Amino acid sequence: MDLTAAGLPLDPVELRRREFPSLGPASHLDAASWGPFPARTRRVVEAVARRREQGGTLAPDFFTRYLGAARSGAARLLDCPVEEVALAPNTTWGMQVAATLVGAGPPGRILYLHGEFPASVLPWRVLLPRGFTLEEVPSDRLGRPGLDHLLERIHSAPDLRAVTLSLVQFATGVVADVEAVVEACRTRGVFLALDAIQGMGILPLPPAALEADVIASGAQKWLLSPWGSGFLRLHPRHLPGGIPLPPVVSWFGFESALDFTTLLDYDPVPLPDGRLFEPATLGIQDFAGMGASVGLLLEVGVDRIREHVLAVQEPLIAWLRGRDDVEPVTPLDRVEARAGIVAFRSPRTGEVAEAMAEAGITLSVREGLVRFSPHLYTTAEEMERAVAILDACH
Ligand SMILES: Cc1ncc(COP(=O)(O)O)c(C=O)c1O
Repeated sequence: MDLTAAGLPLDPVELRRREFPSLGPASHLDAASWGPFPARTRRVVEAVARRREQGGTLAPDFFTRYLGAARSGAARLLDCPVEEVALAPNTTWGMQVAATLVGAGPPGRILYLHGEFPASVLPWRVLLPRGFTLEEVPSDRLGRPGLDHLLERIHSAPDLRAVTLSLVQFATGVVADVEAVVEACRTRGVFLALDAIQGMGILPLPPAALEADVIASGAQKWLLSPWGSGFLRLHPRHLPGGIPLPPVVSWFGFESALDFTTLLDYDPVPLPDGRLFEPATLGIQDFAGMGASVGLLLEVGVDRIREHVLAVQEPLIAWLRGRDDVEPVTPLDRVEARAGIVAFRSPRTGEVAEAMAEAGITLSVREGLVRFSPHLYTTAEEMERAVAILDACH
């Protein structure tokens, strides 16, 4: 079967045979923590490692081939021009770039929601000694983001400079109403930094997200890529026109780095695109892997992956609906507010974690919630088996 056959539902059994043979019978329902490598990814990472083992002269396009493929894969996922993409080792790097861009202006207030992953909040703390303040917007009783409250604060908070927000929250799995937040930020002229790691590869990016000033994502989770690979996307208003430089630059961000034989130009011309925001030297093996993994996800199609994942979540959703001793936290009825994660509060969290581990099923517990995160390789039978174990634990 052709993995790329448009219109056909995704076939996880065939995908596993071709691209995930090493999973064997293991159930990895934990893509929100880290994603297993497709076979093509392991092969390219090994090929780069082998090339390193051999020493000698590298082909002239050795760096640009792998980095270019990773950049263009990220651009296709984001649906933006490749010039707006910068490779980065993690989500945190993108958030640091966002904080330094905001920090270059006058001090003011930065809003975040309670329940955000620390990578989207802590990088902003470096601005506190410079007169910036961080304001936390509370979550609801179940820990879900208070988006209405956030919108109200975006409209009313004095001295507001920036909002930092996850596209999908890491513990609750709630998808933000990006359109509403973008609109509110635009009305107020406020900087928006979006942490997209829990959405990339599983949720087609809402077009409104491209209005964010910075989108940051590691690729180690749903993008099935090496640790140390990721990217950020800069709104064109932040792209370098040469001067002034962004607050953080590396030697790879200049024309002088395009020819390694003559590097000693201390007043070089900045590259006119996202590459000016990249750290150096990037992990070539990691980005070779990211290019391969993103290539597979694009071949299969993020729309199809989403459809498949919503379908395999169904046995779990049905089980959650039928019980009154567990509290679903991820919205069950609003499919637009759900991505890959389904999380719930249970009085039997410890027993569930133990029983799943014994059965060879990987999931995670975050902030007291049981968190399932199936992906394109997950079969309906695996989810049914997991639900039978949940049922036996309750
Ligand atoms: C929402 C969110 N942001 C960021 C991260 C990770 O940040 P980084 O890629 O900088 O390690 C995680 C999980 O590890 C996450 O769930």
